[in-house]
Amino acid sequence: MMSDASNTIKISKVSESKIENVDFNNLAFGKIFTDHMFVCEYRDGAWQTPEIMPYQPLTIAPSARVFHYGQAVFEGMKAFKDEQDQLWMFRPEDNFNRINISAHRMAMPEFPKNYFFDGLTQLLHLDKDWIQKGKGNSLYIRPFVIATEEAISASAANTYKFIIICSPAQAYYAGEVKVLFAEEFSRAADGGVGYAKAAGNYAAQFYPTSLAQQKGYQQIIWTDANTHEYLEEAGTMNIFFRVGDTLLTAPKSDRILDGITRKSVIQLAEDNTIKVEIRPVTVAEIKEAAKKGELKEIFGAGTAAVINPISGFEHKGEVFDLPKLDDSYASFFKNKLTDIQYNISEDPHGWRYKV
Ligand SMILES: Cc1ncc(COP(=O)(O)O)c(C=O)c1O
Repeated sequence: MMSDASNTIKISKVSESKIENVDFNNLAFGKIFTDHMFVCEYRDGAWQTPEIMPYQPLTIAPSARVFHYGQAVFEGMKAFKDEQDQLWMFRPEDNFNRINISAHRMAMPEFPKNYFFDGLTQLLHLDKDWIQKGKGNSLYIRPFVIATEEAISASAANTYKFIIICSPAQAYYAGEVKVLFAEEFSRAADGGVGYAKAAGNYAAQFYPTSLAQQKGYQQIIWTDANTHEYLEEAGTMNIFFRVGDTLLTAPKSDRILDGITRKSVIQLAEDNTIKVEIRPVTVAEIKEAAKKGELKEIFGAGTAAVINPISGFEHKGEVFDLPKLDDSYASFFKNKLTDIQYNISEDPHGWRYKV
């Protein structure tokens, strides 16, 4: 099973690319998909020969367990093209490890590393024209695993599909982002699946997020389920608070996704002598800091937006606006990270991965 998959992957190419029909200056995030996809099936206790094939609908029985019990996990990663047309990824080994951590929690089989990396490499080389040069442009890569076994009894499946699809993306600008600190709803609980990229974690956020949106807030910052006193993370981003010149962020836990952007920001802060405190952050201290004028920034960190500044927040009817800074940590970290991702700067920690 751990043999070199590059000789093993069955490849069937499209007869004609769809790329001519794509307006790369006008891409809605995650709506257009490249020519090919990677598919590998799990059955009889083993992952079978992987295939790369034209992007196409799947045929799956309506009784497949994924539809009934949500046995599904996924990842989000990006590929970049530098000015010399070389392709790069950012810390993909961490995404590989994380999808297996997620799979393990959802009682799904782990995926072999060589299949993952050989599959990705071949897929990206086939669809390399879909990756545009220029900072901000990228290819968003979505690996995911679903339970395909036909059985509507509530237990783990015996068959799965591991699939990778790719979608070209432009610089992600979310506009002005204001957030609501969660007071009632929760994203994750102790002993639950918050640390896994399990599909259901996201579905569960849509309703509370839609209520927040009706009030004019784009996102929710989730608080701990027991007390709602501790700030944890946003829908698809970890969260940092800058109080004075110190950065605060919640520690990893079984409720919080171990974000790759988050740990990169923490490392870059240390490299640049910015003080970071990784500890439980209370709603009370952030409101207090805001009232005293000490809360300078809040920003989210995640693959899609890299760094997303937050311009204000509400909690229990109290509304706070954050100052606009010329020397924000948000733009400092965004530049540092994207310079590494696009092969513009040195990469002292070996985060870049040549595809
Ligand atoms: C719930 C959640 N938190 C944080 C993140 C950020 O993680 P990363 O930086 O690895 O993209 C994501 C996105 O993957 C997420 O879905």
